[in-house]
Amino acid sequence: MIPSVLPTYNRAPLSFVKGEGSWLIEADGRRFLDMGAGIAVNALGHAHPDLIAALTAQAGKLWHTSNLYQIPQQQALADKLVDATFADTVFFTNSGTESCELAVKMARKYFYDQGQPDRIGIIAFDGAFHGRSHAAIAAAGSEKMVKGFGPVLPGFTQVAWGDHDGLHAAIDDTTAAILIEPVQGEGGIRPLPDQCLKGLRDLCDEKGILLIADEVQCGMGRTGKLFAHEWAGVDPDIMMVAKGIGGGFPLGAVLAIEDAARGMTAGTHGSTYGGNPLACAVGSKVMDIISDPAFLRSVNEIAGDLRQGLEGLVAAHPDVFDHVRGTGLMLGLKCKATNTDVVAAAYDAQLITVPAADNVVRLLPPLNLTQADMAEALSRLDAAATQVATNRNT
Ligand SMILES: Cc1ncc(COP(=O)(O)O)c(C=O)c1O
Repeated sequence: MIPSVLPTYNRAPLSFVKGEGSWLIEADGRRFLDMGAGIAVNALGHAHPDLIAALTAQAGKLWHTSNLYQIPQQQALADKLVDATFADTVFFTNSGTESCELAVKMARKYFYDQGQPDRIGIIAFDGAFHGRSHAAIAAAGSEKMVKGFGPVLPGFTQVAWGDHDGLHAAIDDTTAAILIEPVQGEGGIRPLPDQCLKGLRDLCDEKGILLIADEVQCGMGRTGKLFAHEWAGVDPDIMMVAKGIGGGFPLGAVLAIEDAARGMTAGTHGSTYGGNPLACAVGSKVMDIISDPAFLRSVNEIAGDLRQGLEGLVAAHPDVFDHVRGTGLMLGLKCKATNTDVVAAAYDAQLITVPAADNVVRLLPPLNLTQADMAEALSRLDAAATQVATNRNT
């Protein structure tokens, strides 16, 4: 008999009932150190007092009106995002997938309005993950994502990661945009070198096409800058955001420069919930905290220490781990053992990590991780690796 919850997930037998900072408490009372943060969502950990205050203050006043009316909390958050980034305008969504939908629509509408309706092509990359809608799975393009769901939405191509010639060859007069995660998350923590992002920007300018950055996982302070593309010193035309921006409350956004957004006039797009007062009250507080330069400095400091600790673990467990990769607090351990065995052993050590493609274990802790919790996480990961090594040798 089918379970009452549609069984689309392979869930671990863990059920958390409470969160405190970087810790999750299981129904049986065990305390787990959370180095997954809900896959980069709980950017400020669990039960952050400022976020609770922002949410409960808004909850006592007004939960929802409609985008038929002015929403001051939405305006305030949009102003903050515009002030802090390349963007001139923001549309609020509820998830990364919805941000992907709008990014694709915006790019296509941009060319349509210029009398180029055939420019619908979106070039994406292998290993990419942009969500689960038809546009998002077509962008990822892998058989695993699209099989069984009918005709794949036309206009999407994938280029191998790092294949410059393939990328040039893929661009033609039907191309509207290049869509890229500056650091691939689900694909196995694969950071795009800064010079490649610069190269993509130059290529888009040369060909007159748009650059869309998917910063759903790598944005909002995760890499030690507010947004990951800032490391390369270049800006996209359109950017997808979600996950960390709501700190655990469902919220996403599409940020864009005025020129790229000009086709999106009244009636061309909408959302019932997107930018709702509760979500934006929380998002505004998250933004205040994460965009503070002192906060971002602290992310970089602890990220450096965590990386060093992980390098030590790789050296100590050469049969289990191959190398560390990633940037900021978006780190991956490329494994020699099976990554899901490492994740399972980490559960036994009461540590939460997240598997990714390419046999990688992801570490995406809260950005306000303390030194003490970081040291504890390294010690638990050490125990997990020892367990995996022992199992492999027996
Ligand atoms: C880079 C990236 N884009 C888009 C998405 C989809 O976001 P959501 O699950 O909020 O729809 C994800 C989710 O993991 C992601 O990592």
